[in-house]
Amino acid sequence: MKLCMIGTGYVGLVSGVCFADLGNDVICVDKDISKINLLKKGKVPIYEPGLSELVIKNYKNKRLSFSSDLKKSIIESDIIFICVGTPTKKGGSSADLRQIYKVSKEISSSINKFKIIITKSTVPVTTGDEIEKILSKKNKKKKFSVVSNPEFLREGEAIRDFIYPDRVVIGTNDKKTGKILKSLYSPLISKGASYLQTSRRAAELIKYASNAFLATKITFINEIANLCEKTGINVEDISIGMGLDKRIGSRFLRAGPAYGGSCFPKDTKAIISTADKFKTNLSVIKSVIKSNENRSKILLDRIYQILNKKIKNKKIAFLGVTFKANTDDMRDSSSLKMIPWLSKKGAIITYFDPTGYKDEFSSLKNVTNKTTIKEAVQGSNLVVIHTEWNDFKSINFKSLVNGKKFIIFDMRNIYSSSKIKDQGFKYYSVGK
Ligand code: UDX
Repeated sequence: MKLCMIGTGYVGLVSGVCFADLGNDVICVDKDISKINLLKKGKVPIYEPGLSELVIKNYKNKRLSFSSDLKKSIIESDIIFICVGTPTKKGGSSADLRQIYKVSKEISSSINKFKIIITKSTVPVTTGDEIEKILSKKNKKKKFSVVSNPEFLREGEAIRDFIYPDRVVIGTNDKKTGKILKSLYSPLISKGASYLQTSRRAAELIKYASNAFLATKITFINEIANLCEKTGINVEDISIGMGLDKRIGSRFLRAGPAYGGSCFPKDTKAIISTADKFKTNLSVIKSVIKSNENRSKILLDRIYQILNKKIKNKKIAFLGVTFKANTDDMRDSSSLKMIPWLSKKGAIITYFDPTGYKDEFSSLKNVTNKTTIKEAVQGSNLVVIHTEWNDFKSINFKSLVNGKKFIIFDMRNIYSSSKIKDQGFKYYSVGK
């Protein structure tokens, strides 16, 4: 069976490379020729630990190839994964499916033998039905099968998440297709992944419901953290105490800045939009979106209080600006709300991120990128730990002070408050 991944973004590239590493023959296709040329040279256009090594290894042993010729790649393949972007529509909240439908039309005119066409991109309920309609215009129904197989990988952990997923979800009612896909995923199932075959619409919704639920969990603990701050309770005790209940589970209960990234903000909006279409009110998810949008304001207000209501001319250093650690992704990062606001109020901001300079701040007044932690924090009044990179987990703050000690606001609760305070620093964290 030959696989074709259409789109070499996060999902397509990681899945394609990992499928090749499991012994499959995989073509990764992208309309962006410069990206394909880079990949052929073993250069990976996204930041993902371990990915470049796997690309080089599998490209060398010829299980993995790259192409910008979509038609030829489809003709040569048996299983086609659609992995193109489904961003939020400009000025709206639903998913923009133009790329999905464009690719579907292209597939439609290249079906030369039975093909399984899979959406791995996150697509709203009924998208599979629409793809099937497009394909049916030019092809007999027995020539293809349209499946939903959502991907649950996290940036920064993508390879591990692909190889050791909690579950593989296959949305199809077709027995033959189900059998082929179960066999494709058998190396992961034999390592312990649960396998769920369900209807196509259910698989589409499982992805959105999962992301919305995880976003709810984070937002929930962030609001509980607000209450902890007012009542002298440590939110980490609450997370542990709640997490010990197996019905709740301990993961995704870490309080911190607003959740961000390429999925949670986009998918929570898109599921609301789908529900609106079907005249259903998802009031819980609506409040999650609202609460998360308000989260940065709450943390900014804390900065304002920490700095005794004086922000103008205060030197503030940000450690980490991406939406989380182990990624260079700035999409919907809470720093994109916090840094512009502080800059507008007259703060002088320096930032250090392990993934370097960020164009997003280039037009802001008094915002400078520094290439080391030391340079970033020198002379600061306040150091904000914004993401939980390992680089920030055992900083010797004393050795970085040159003159007056800075205040530390640890938004990820990395440090032990007593240890930092023992070193003579004023230390603030979240939910404590
Ligand atoms: C997420 C889902 O986890 C993944 O299954 C899906 O396919 C894509 O979206 P990702 O966006 O890479 O993955 O990041 P994730 O690790 O889930 O974190 C999302 C956001 O939540 C980040 O801003 C992170 O900092 C925040 N978060 C996560 C918390 O604030 N607290 C937590 O306990 C966990």
